[in-house]
Amino acid sequence: MTVAPDAPLLFFDSGVGGLSILAPARLALPHAPIVYAADSAGFPYGTRSEAEIAARVPALLGRLVERYRPRLAVIACNTASTIALSHVRAALDIPVVGTVPAIKPAALQSQSRVIGVLGTDATVRQPYVDRLAAEFGADCTVLRHGSAALVQLAEAKLRGEPLDPAIARDALAGLLDQSGGDRMDTVVLACTHFPLVEAELAAAAPHPLRFLHGGEGIARRIAYLTREQPWPADPAPGIAIFTRMDDQVDPLRAALASYGLPRVEAL
Ligand code: DGL
Repeated sequence: MTVAPDAPLLFFDSGVGGLSILAPARLALPHAPIVYAADSAGFPYGTRSEAEIAARVPALLGRLVERYRPRLAVIACNTASTIALSHVRAALDIPVVGTVPAIKPAALQSQSRVIGVLGTDATVRQPYVDRLAAEFGADCTVLRHGSAALVQLAEAKLRGEPLDPAIARDALAGLLDQSGGDRMDTVVLACTHFPLVEAELAAAAPHPLRFLHGGEGIARRIAYLTREQPWPADPAPGIAIFTRMDDQVDPLRAALASYGLPRVEAL
């Protein structure tokens, strides 16, 4: 299939979390035109049911693909990927890259063999996560905790609001207070919002922890899948799309521009 040089990469999340996936992708592919879509009308995903996510995400991506004609879509959201990746792949005729918890690299790197998976409530209960833990972390204790407050903390940080340090502390305590948690040395940031507050998590940790996420691996995967495709010498400015324009969008503009998304549009 021939790809037009100006065909964008489409990144999709419920909110700003996918920016943690966009950032390494922009470094790897600086000429890529970018469309970043945030389903602000459906946010937050982490407290929704599997049925809601499985219905909503493929339908929205279908509309976005029709409108923006991307060459590839990245589901830059663990909740949507662990629930709806196969539905989205079935619905779209372009390559779809998902974001799933980085349990494999965590198991490779952990010395203590106790790993934490910090995600949304919806992600940490997925059979997809059971399978990753069984396949790659069979000799590890894999602790899980879901935090909706940490998702809100990341959104607040990008709006430039003051942050309550208790939120990061409580999220980590959700792992550390479980049996074996005191030996945990590695935490998988299994929600794309969480790398945006990694500094807050590190500051709240009672002992040094290694935080891992899939951003670099996804950037390599996008570069590989598009390796023979042309890019514009001078790509158009990136666009951020919101499914609901409300008073939470305007305060994000400066952060969005710093991620190469100076244009903001409603879907
Ligand atoms: N950023 C999303 C994830 O990776 C979900 C956040 C939310 O909407 O709850 O899971």
